[in-house]
Amino acid sequence: MHESKRLAKLPTYVFALLDQLKSEQRAQGKDLIDLSIGSPNVPPPPAVVEALKKALDNPQNHRYSSFEGNPEFKQAVVDWCKRQYEIDIEKNEVVELIGSKEGLVHLAFATLDPGDRVLVPLPAYPAHFRGPILAGAEVFVLPTIEKNGFIPDLDNIDESIAKKSKMLILSYPTNPTAACAPKSFFEKAVTFAKKHDIILIHDFAYAELYFEGKKPPSCLAVKGAKDVCVEFHTLSKTFGMAGWRVGFAVGSKEILDLIRKMKTNLDYGPFGAIIKASVAALKTPNDYLDNMRATYQKRRDIVVDGLNSLGWSLKKPMAAMYVWAQVPAGFNSMSFTNELMDKTGVVVSPGTGFGELGEGYIRISLVDTNQRLAEAIERLQKAGIRFHA
Ligand SMILES: Cc1ncc(COP(=O)(O)O)c(C=O)c1O
Repeated sequence: MHESKRLAKLPTYVFALLDQLKSEQRAQGKDLIDLSIGSPNVPPPPAVVEALKKALDNPQNHRYSSFEGNPEFKQAVVDWCKRQYEIDIEKNEVVELIGSKEGLVHLAFATLDPGDRVLVPLPAYPAHFRGPILAGAEVFVLPTIEKNGFIPDLDNIDESIAKKSKMLILSYPTNPTAACAPKSFFEKAVTFAKKHDIILIHDFAYAELYFEGKKPPSCLAVKGAKDVCVEFHTLSKTFGMAGWRVGFAVGSKEILDLIRKMKTNLDYGPFGAIIKASVAALKTPNDYLDNMRATYQKRRDIVVDGLNSLGWSLKKPMAAMYVWAQVPAGFNSMSFTNELMDKTGVVVSPGTGFGELGEGYIRISLVDTNQRLAEAIERLQKAGIRFHA
């Protein structure tokens, strides 16, 4: 079958390869501890599940959703943004999404032309570079390294590169490195975007998944950011609703109108009953989030302390649901991922799934119970897997 040039241009999807390997291992009856995908397993608030059940009984919810979005949901987003991040959003500055991945990729199609340049710090969540590539744009990599806290140096971008760029895609806390950025970095990013007439995207998927009380800043909290910036949120991570497919984007109305226009040609927005239940989610008392954070923090400690007892010297990440760890000498990302799967049944993501700069690393997702994570460490120890430079 003919594959479009657009699709063929994408780098290999490492996770599809990983899926195949997992199936082979499972077919052999192996008990895998799957820490590869960032699919949250903390259940949504019970009131949200109840709200969905109730919403299913409303025949109106079985019809198409409105292109304009649900006013109650938009109001809940406005209130949420004020309550959580002290940012002022109008109802017409909200777009409902069928998950933020959908929005990120469609945004690329709505705003980029073939040949347009997009600045993307790597390693990154794959949609940040795959979306622009699918839209025919050219990705200009901003390398990020551990020494610089995985934050790109915007001052070092050549004027000629910046001038020809159309978009900058940021995401802090970051998947896969779990790096966080201070408000001063976002101030710099907003100034940079304004100076060079660049659309600034901030994927804030892990906004609520932070540890030790260190709340990550919203890019929209920077004065004047709304002129150039759109921020993406997801209920997947915040409320354990990854399978529900619901998120939203807020910020520059001009940019959001383009996403909306794109979406009117593609879909009808999220299922009405899910939107109704999402309103309940956004009204959830904050102790749900406190418990969710405590759960992931405990898991982080088990994995980081465990790996450090096996020779790694990892710092504890302050946000997100990932541990980003170097592979031992003699391995690359994929060969170490294979070694772990073969010898221990522990499945991680090879760093190369997040761009070439992820080579030499693996990402461990904290998506199983404390007991299973402790068992994963024990399996490594029993198999004699240790870190050595
Ligand atoms: C940074 C980032 N953005 C977006 C997503 C996708 O979220 P959603 O479930 O809303 O599509 C993920 C999922 O892992 C992510 O890590």
